[in-house]
Amino acid sequence: MMGNQGYLEANDRLLQELDRSGQRKQLPTRGEISLSSNDYLNLSRHPQLIEKGIDELRRSGTGATGSRLLSGNHPLNRDLEVAIASFKNGPSALVFSTGYQANLSTIGALAELVDIFYSDALNHASLIDGLRLARKETIVFPHNDVQWIERDLEVRARSTGTSPRFMVVTESLFSMEGDMAPLRKLSDLVDARDGLLLVDEAHATGTVGKEGRGGFEQEGLSWDPDRVLVTGTFSKAMGGLGGFTVCHPDYRELLISRGRGFVYSTALPPAVLASNLEALRILGAGNDLVKALSQRVSELREALGAPAGQSPIIPIRGEKKALASFQEYLLESALWAPLIFPPTVPEGSERIRLSVTLGWETDWIRRIGEAFHRETGLQAG
Ligand SMILES: Cc1ncc(COP(=O)(O)O)c(C=O)c1O
Repeated sequence: MMGNQGYLEANDRLLQELDRSGQRKQLPTRGEISLSSNDYLNLSRHPQLIEKGIDELRRSGTGATGSRLLSGNHPLNRDLEVAIASFKNGPSALVFSTGYQANLSTIGALAELVDIFYSDALNHASLIDGLRLARKETIVFPHNDVQWIERDLEVRARSTGTSPRFMVVTESLFSMEGDMAPLRKLSDLVDARDGLLLVDEAHATGTVGKEGRGGFEQEGLSWDPDRVLVTGTFSKAMGGLGGFTVCHPDYRELLISRGRGFVYSTALPPAVLASNLEALRILGAGNDLVKALSQRVSELREALGAPAGQSPIIPIRGEKKALASFQEYLLESALWAPLIFPPTVPEGSERIRLSVTLGWETDWIRRIGEAFHRETGLQAG
């Protein structure tokens, strides 16, 4: 395991390399205490998930042996689909090998129903890559600006006399900003203008809403499966691996035959399905974990003077040098938080992304607060 000095040197090297080429050439070393894990509910360490995984591993072996259309369709896939559809308040679901593949495949497959995609400027790479695969006109709209989309649709309708078939693509809890999409306004827009909406709830699932069901729960909204598709991952708050799309059964059928990441990639190992299923069972059984996470989020937000909110993602922004100092102060307490660079975030908006998890010890929050306030010129949230 690398010591603190090792981390400092590795990070210096990373910064220097980045200054020269703007590209990352080395993988960061995984720290003992990471402040940027996506394991929000610490479920990757939960004894019941581990036990279910081991049992299934012994029963079914290590791999799925093929894609779900061939030999890999273990019955636990269906169980997991029923469970995730119910947790996300949708009518049906399809499970993929990763969240990346869920987004790529869903956008790619639905492209035949769409003339124009509207994509939020801060969307995750998996959504952007799906849009590339779709090969349809894609318009990037300013972050969370629903009026902008409305105006654009109006201009198009006036100039062509027809309304395009469109889909808005967004995250709900944005992975790098930690803010929420205006889901109510977006739902109203697609209702009023006969459009479709794809919402990636990779980070919102298990973290926001009273029961951790995501952005729609947080806004007190139900979603219309004729117009809305919800994607996400089992690799963050559920501590495992795999992606999902919750949607109308007709869209699910389309994804089975046209979702390239579904058709052309090996299914999840049954042991992973078993652990994912257990994570959902635990999440569905009550909101204690979600409540505990919210509590810890509030404590950190308070320590940093960040705006109140349920989002466990808190970006720390500032000059690169100030960020590097903050990072060094954290390392004095053996806490490790990596810098996030372009192209993951827009040019000039490097940041340290803190993501609170139930694996955090209470004392870390005090130490993070102290490190943050030692450096002037940093903003949290
Ligand atoms: C917003 C968002 N969508 C999708 C993904 C992809 O999920 P997965 O890691 O399961 O491929 C991620 C995670 O990296 C993400 O942050």
